[in-house]
Amino acid sequence: MPGQTPPEAMSESAARAELAELAKAIATADAAYYQEDSPHLSDAEYDALRLRNTELEAAFPHLKRTDSPSEQVGAAPSGTFAKARHAEPMLSLDNAFSDEDVADFIARIRRFLGLDEAAVVALTAEPKIDGLSLSLTYEAGKLVRAATRGNGQEGEDVTANARTISDIPVELKGAGWPARVDIRGEVFMSKAEFAALNAREAEAGNKLYANPRNAAAGSLRQKDAEITRTRALNFFAYAWAAASEPFAETQFEAVAKFAEWGFVINPGFTRHENLDGLIAAYRAIEAGRAGLGYDIDGVVYKVDRLDWQARLGVQSRAPRWAIAHKFPADRASTTLESIDIQVGRTGSLTPVARLTPVTVGGVVVSNATLHNEDEIARLDVRVGDRVEIQRAGDVIPQVLGVLDADRADRPPPFEFPKTCPVCGSDAVREVDDKGVADVRRRCTGGLICAAQRLERLKHFVSRKGLDIEGLGAKQVELFLKEGVISGPQDIFRLKAALEAAGQPPLEDWDGFGETSAANLFASIDARRRVPFARFLNALGIRHVGEISSRAFARNFTDWAPFWATVEAAAEQGEESEAWQALTGIDGLGAAAAGALVDFAREAHNREMLAALLAEVEVLPEEAAASDSPVSGKTVVFTGTLEQMTRDEAKARASALGAKVSGSVSSKTDILVAGPGAGSKLKKATELGIQTLSEEEWLALIGDA
Ligand code: IVH
Repeated sequence: MPGQTPPEAMSESAARAELAELAKAIATADAAYYQEDSPHLSDAEYDALRLRNTELEAAFPHLKRTDSPSEQVGAAPSGTFAKARHAEPMLSLDNAFSDEDVADFIARIRRFLGLDEAAVVALTAEPKIDGLSLSLTYEAGKLVRAATRGNGQEGEDVTANARTISDIPVELKGAGWPARVDIRGEVFMSKAEFAALNAREAEAGNKLYANPRNAAAGSLRQKDAEITRTRALNFFAYAWAAASEPFAETQFEAVAKFAEWGFVINPGFTRHENLDGLIAAYRAIEAGRAGLGYDIDGVVYKVDRLDWQARLGVQSRAPRWAIAHKFPADRASTTLESIDIQVGRTGSLTPVARLTPVTVGGVVVSNATLHNEDEIARLDVRVGDRVEIQRAGDVIPQVLGVLDADRADRPPPFEFPKTCPVCGSDAVREVDDKGVADVRRRCTGGLICAAQRLERLKHFVSRKGLDIEGLGAKQVELFLKEGVISGPQDIFRLKAALEAAGQPPLEDWDGFGETSAANLFASIDARRRVPFARFLNALGIRHVGEISSRAFARNFTDWAPFWATVEAAAEQGEESEAWQALTGIDGLGAAAAGALVDFAREAHNREMLAALLAEVEVLPEEAAASDSPVSGKTVVFTGTLEQMTRDEAKARASALGAKVSGSVSSKTDILVAGPGAGSKLKKATELGIQTLSEEEWLALIGDA
């Protein structure tokens, strides 16, 4: 470009300013090109911007920005693709690790559906492909969108890239497909293609992919779909969602139709009528694993009858009608170099084994968990030992045992610290009311412990917490270290907090600059309104995680009455109606309520919460299905149900947006009473609560 100052003649501040401008200009050009499909720069203009950026970064390496465009070339960073909301969530699968787990799975299905021993529960079996899932939307038989899984609700639109995969039909063949349907399956890369790709990357001096899965993900998420085309990706279709019309009665029939419509289905897909059949299929797939040509990590079983799948439904993001039977974990041996103690968000001390790096199942492992002090004692693992470790899927690797316990020069047994390694407070093992000691030793320092403070803040801003873009563990750690923030409330008054701490404005911090500072403030502001469940989970209260947060949010809808109930329970104790209201929620134990009450009793927590609520508005939880007459109603089931099991009744009610409770109180709206109902029916009658028979209930929800 004309009129550019040579880098060597530039001042630092001028270079910093220009780098910020370049980052912004290149990001805007990228967005126009990739997301809006309307480039506003010529290729030459765009290349000139990138060249100038590279020049300036070479001359001023320390000014290179955290969002530097040079880091993003062909690397398929997130945020490059438009967001794509799924018509129905993309689910995950629960795992089974043994034949017994599979037997339990089938028993659970029988119990849930109320089937007797004579009823045949047919299931399908197929390999679990180690790739990434993709949802393909077809309208009138034409591929109109391809979206990655993302967080299950919302992924990225990778339509252009998916169109280059030859296993994915752009137009459906045959007949009988629904007018609209999402076909779901796995994108993966064969082992041969993976090896060839890495050979090409090595030749070009590029970084290599760690395994076929990463290579498939990286290849699908290329900015330039023509690069995806050169990567030879494959796709197996195995599921569907949001079909405008039903098209099959069984899983087996549905998948057979996929093949007629032009999809590739896995040749190892079979159907079985009992546990033995499934286990035989599992062994056969496991025996053939090495010869397959692509990675698989288990076998997926699915209930064949689709009407049963519908009744079984979904529980916290995994269907009740499917399970992944995982292959045994990969193992390796290595040396234990040291044992570090990490302090978690709730003060628990976790021993971490630092290992001589070793490859296990294609991944280099240098850390493994030792769980707790009892586990160290049980294994009698000591520094310098040769240890066997195992890694299963995405779980943290663990130490299985010591291989050379008889060697001569072993140090004495590891002594677990009795004080917090970070703040020096006592670390204790709590004893419950039955006299059983907790397996975890906990730092009693609370928020005076820097480690707990840091971990809580990290959790607060994390993806499952407030999910503040641009504010991750690294930034939180930095702000905490520099004394800018001390609690979550400070994040929302960051400008003032910087000033109060005598720090320069954010844009002058290393690695920030004007654009990223402005972006950070914008993404913090975007989280000033946050849904109830997310907010509660973000607080990081012990025993109050995602699932209990959602249960509280659904039952109370609004934050204010919820917190008033917690405070009342904290003041009035376990006899109070408030305590009953917290513990009566279906599926929640007393632990969550107890932890909330403990939290509310601490003055510094109340202060933090008040300060936070001055900055943040907690939004009411949306009801799951607002058009059902029972949505938002609190329902209690009692007595024997005849048309369905208690579990199924509760699950169905929750799916319709009702709040299911285990006890009758003045907050109960409906009692569904079957034969044999006793004290609950009596109490409901006394309180004047609407009481329905099972038939009346089914008629009300439209299932009769
Ligand atoms: S079914 C409704 N079948 O495993 C159930 N998933 O751990 C949806 N996966 O996200 C999944 N092979 O990416 C199903 N044959 C298979 C699969 C499979 C691989 C992946 C899928 C899913 C993950 C869950």
